[in-house]
Amino acid sequence: MDVDFAKLNGRKILITGGLGFIGSNLAHRLVRAGAHVTIYDACLDPYGWNWFNLDGIRDNVEVVIADIRDEVKLKEHVRGKEIIFHLAAQVGREVSMANPELDTDINCNGTIKLCKILAELQNGVKVVYAGSRGQIGEPIYLPVDEAHPTKPTDVYGINKLAAEKYLLLYGHIYDFPVVSLRLNNVYGPRCQMQHGYYGILNWFIQNAMTGRDITVYGDGKQTRDYIYIDDVVDAFMRASLLSTADNDIFFIGSGVETLFIDMVKQVIQAVGRGRYVHVPFPPERESIDIRKFVITFAKFQKATGWHPKVDLTTGVQRTVDFYRRNLEHYRS
Ligand SMILES: NC(=O)c1ccc[n+]([C@@H]2O[C@H](COP(=O)([O-])OP(=O)(O)OC[C@H]3O[C@@H](n4cnc5c(N)ncnc54)[C@H](O)[C@@H]3O)[C@@H](O)[C@H]2O)c1
Repeated sequence: MDVDFAKLNGRKILITGGLGFIGSNLAHRLVRAGAHVTIYDACLDPYGWNWFNLDGIRDNVEVVIADIRDEVKLKEHVRGKEIIFHLAAQVGREVSMANPELDTDINCNGTIKLCKILAELQNGVKVVYAGSRGQIGEPIYLPVDEAHPTKPTDVYGINKLAAEKYLLLYGHIYDFPVVSLRLNNVYGPRCQMQHGYYGILNWFIQNAMTGRDITVYGDGKQTRDYIYIDDVVDAFMRASLLSTADNDIFFIGSGVETLFIDMVKQVIQAVGRGRYVHVPFPPERESIDIRKFVITFAKFQKATGWHPKVDLTTGVQRTVDFYRRNLEHYRS
């Protein structure tokens, strides 16, 4: 299925969380397509906001520093938009267990504010939401598909699921299209690499590049589905343009089940140096860890023609190349 991205030319677009990893990569692509992009970000720590993420497009986007929980400000910037990519979130799984009130406040209340505004404005704006594999919990079958039951193992997963349901509910009642893309482990250029709360692959790249040991919890035989950022951006662009994905949920991933330890080896190989050590799982991590995970993207492929194009070896190499040029802007 051919998608004409030129249709985004001149469109008025809001990206919540747009100074972060996924949002900023999306902004680069949208600017190239000729869209009018507004980035809305609260610059909260320890999340991935970084001014350098806008390097090359800073003069082509509007940036609003504000919180999605600020209903007045949010309304001001939702008004007049045609597409909203809702990416702002508390994104740390362990953070969500240590501070469940914060996670609920940002991920649920923040999304509810957006829903209320869209209901009030009634402008039929399209919303593409960044959902998460964390909404599933430990799978009872593989590959995980959209019919799989949801039993999150942390507060983050519960609240990402709730936010997805709020958006679909409000979209249904107030007549605006919503697409939820449940993302797997996304990696690539512009991801924060200062800590390992999330974006672990990028964190390991920093470890290898700066001569620190990479710590692998347990035997490293957990499996994950790693997906390169350009493929994720392509999925968001398609979801925003095609009505065939409206009012539905989809998994976005590579469809390849990778051993955690094999991902670590790929990182070390791409960096050309580095060392890993096995350490016991910290209890707070082990209790929420998921043993095996891989998805099928068949449903999204059928709806939009999307399929991933970048394999792990190529994606990790491209990511390392980016940080070789820009490490000073990302390292801790
Ligand atoms: N990166 C992944 O592997 C992954 C996987 C599944 C889902 N997701 C989802 O994708 C989205 C983007 O994640 P990311 O990896 O780009 O993270 P990121 O940390 O790089 O970006 C998140 C951005 O949201 C901003 N933000 C946080 N709270 C906010 C608030 N209250 N108001 C306004 N801005 C706020 C942060 O400042 C940050 O810039 C999130 O919704 C996340 O749940 C990401």
